[in-house]
Amino acid sequence: MRIYPILILIQFALTKLPTNFEFGVSTAAYQIEGAWLEGGKSLSVWDNLVHSGAVIDNSTGDVAADSFHKYPEDIALMKEYGIKNYRMSVAWARIIPHGNKGTPINMQAIQHYRTQFKALLRAGIVPYVTLYHNVMPANLYINGTGYVDPDFPDDFAYYGEVCFEHFGDLVKNWFTFNEPWVQAISVSGTEEDLKDKPYKATHSILLAHAKTVEIYRKKYKPIQQGQIGIVLNTEVYYPKDPNKQSDIDAAIRGRTFQLDWYAHPLLTGDYPELMKKIVGDRLPKFTDEEKKLLNGSMDFYAFNSYFPLLAESEEYTPIGFNRDRAAKFSKDPKWRISDMDWGVYARSFYDILMFTHNTWLKNTNLEVYIAESGTAVKEPDIKSALNDMLRIDYLQTYMEEMVNAMNEGVKVTKFFVWSLLDNFEWNSGLSKKFGLVRVQYDENQKRIPKNSIAWYYALIKDFGQ
Ligand code: BGC
Repeated sequence: MRIYPILILIQFALTKLPTNFEFGVSTAAYQIEGAWLEGGKSLSVWDNLVHSGAVIDNSTGDVAADSFHKYPEDIALMKEYGIKNYRMSVAWARIIPHGNKGTPINMQAIQHYRTQFKALLRAGIVPYVTLYHNVMPANLYINGTGYVDPDFPDDFAYYGEVCFEHFGDLVKNWFTFNEPWVQAISVSGTEEDLKDKPYKATHSILLAHAKTVEIYRKKYKPIQQGQIGIVLNTEVYYPKDPNKQSDIDAAIRGRTFQLDWYAHPLLTGDYPELMKKIVGDRLPKFTDEEKKLLNGSMDFYAFNSYFPLLAESEEYTPIGFNRDRAAKFSKDPKWRISDMDWGVYARSFYDILMFTHNTWLKNTNLEVYIAESGTAVKEPDIKSALNDMLRIDYLQTYMEEMVNAMNEGVKVTKFFVWSLLDNFEWNSGLSKKFGLVRVQYDENQKRIPKNSIAWYYALIKDFGQ
């Protein structure tokens, strides 16, 4: 076992964290599982994408960290390092290969995940399961439909229900979608399509979420006694020049067209007024019944926020999302830059927590979950990976700002580090390293714990957990 040598002098050692505060780690199926052609799984959109050469380093998730086979090692590592909460996702294309509502369930996948959940529970680790972490069965994406297919909400709700039915005795914490905003703005199509496609995609994802939550709450929650929510994401927007009104407005639009677009309907039942005004008829409308379903469709508020941006006003020509948001973004030269080329500025974490609290959460009982927090560090070899001080610094400073927000009333109760393992980082392939544990891809996916996991262990122990 790796021991972190330095005494932890973190501010929140002084703070009394609530007794329900817990630490965990996060992963996602496509990013770590591999086994792309095993266990009765069908092809997913990402399988097809990576095999069309879309990824920078030409890597794929075909094997990734091979956690489909090596999950017992992952569980052993978590146990060794005192980690008691594991956020993972299940793969839709494994569980319902065809994707659509009513199509057959792949019992091999059900067995596989049940064995994994049981192994987690035996090790004293609580599973937090995301149904949809960015990856759709390819069959649902024929002709680029996917989210905007009118059947998408029902297909998704069917998938959700299959998971509740088959895993709900073991899994008590569910997230419907991970970062739906990223999905909605990545839709492709002609210029004509893109006038409103991100708005239609968001609308459909929100309805899919609300339907699935309704099913869980009505049919499964009373028996299974679990909880369900969604993981939102947002950058933290600041005006480039705080004294310039057009920059202030651009920062507000940046946030509104990302966080508020989702948080507002989920916490109040409808889209933000500013979006209605700017997008007009291209923004779909909810019926009164849908508004009711959406409003409060989460048992906790979970989100990810990785980096800040400076905003200024910008005009774009084609009608669509960019023209509506009318902002361009840059980085403050004072920010350190991570290996993802993202600014590192811990105070932004405090700012976004406070904004969310003051805008939507302070009059609710919702606990806040940080579903992911972490940073990519350049680690070309094992030696550099072992000594990942920049990751420790990132996590420590972000957690300190979280504690500052908690001291002002924000009810954070869970913090999941992204990520347990180095993994397949979407368009950046295997080249970016987010793990507390290195995965040596050329040595049969060997796991090598970095200093950061030893630091995390010491921190968790410090809190008597
Ligand atoms: C996603 C992860 C991703 C991480 C780092 C989040 O947006 O949920 O899948 O790996 O950020 O980019």
